[in-house]
Amino acid sequence: MHFVTAILSGSALLAGLAAAQTVQSKPFNLIVENAQNKSINGLGFASCHEGAAIESLCLGYDKATFYLNTTQGGQSGVTGDGVPGVLNWNLKGSNFVESEGMSFFVDPSTNVALPLFEPAYQSQYVAFDGKDLMNIQSYLDDTKSPPNSEQARALYRWYVCNSNFEGYVYQTLNWVLGNGKPQNPSCQKVDIKRVFI
Ligand SMILES: *[C@@H]1O[C@H](CO)[C@@H](O)[C@H](O)[C@H]1NC(C)=O
Ligand SMILES: *[C@@H]1O[C@H](CO)[C@@H](O)[C@H](O)[C@H]1NC(C)=O
Repeated sequence: MHFVTAILSGSALLAGLAAAQTVQSKPFNLIVENAQNKSINGLGFASCHEGAAIESLCLGYDKATFYLNTTQGGQSGVTGDGVPGVLNWNLKGSNFVESEGMSFFVDPSTNVALPLFEPAYQSQYVAFDGKDLMNIQSYLDDTKSPPNSEQARALYRWYVCNSNFEGYVYQTLNWVLGNGKPQNPSCQKVDIKRVFI
C-alpha cells in the first residue's frame, strides 16, 4: 500500500514538474534610459536583419515586441532583482511564427558582444530589476584572487554601438564583456528599460 502511494505521488510530482514549465511574460518594448547622450534617451529597439532568421536589436523609433520566458518557480540569485529568463522575440513569416531566444555573438577580436535572436541557440539569460532595468546576473568574480563564485551580482553593461556582423552595420544594443571600457569607440553607455505594452 505504501509502495503504491509512493509510486503515485512520484508520478504526480513528475506531472507537476512537466506542467510547471515556461511562463511567458506580457509583451514589452525595450527603451534607452540614462544615456549621457540625451538624444538617444527614449528611443527603442527594433529588430534588424543580420542573416537568415538572425536579428539584432537596432536603435530607432520603431519598437519591436519582446517577451521574457522564465521557468515557473525559478528564483533570482540577487535580492530585489527579477527571475532570470530568456529574452525572446517572434520572427514572423508568411505562414509561421518562430520564437527566438537572445544569445550573445562573441568574437575573440573584441570585448563587445552582440545580442542576437537566432533559432534554437543556447540563450543568454537576462533579468529585470525593481525599476524594470535589464541586467545579467553572474556569480563569477575573477577580479579577485582567488576568483570566487559565491555571491550573485546584477550587472548592467549595456551599450549602444555601431556593430558589424558579417557586413551588416547598424547602431545596435551591445554588451561589454568584463568591467573594462568597450574598445569600439562608437559605444555609448545606456540603461535598458522594459516598458510593458
Ligand atoms: C549622440 O547619439 C547620436 C545618435 O547615435 C549620434 O549621432 C551622436 O554623435 C551622439 N553624440 C555624442 C556626443 O556622442
Ligand atoms: C517562450 O514561451 C512561449 C510560451 O511557452 C513558447 O511558445 C516559446 O517557444 C518560448 N520561446 C523560447 C525562445 O523559448
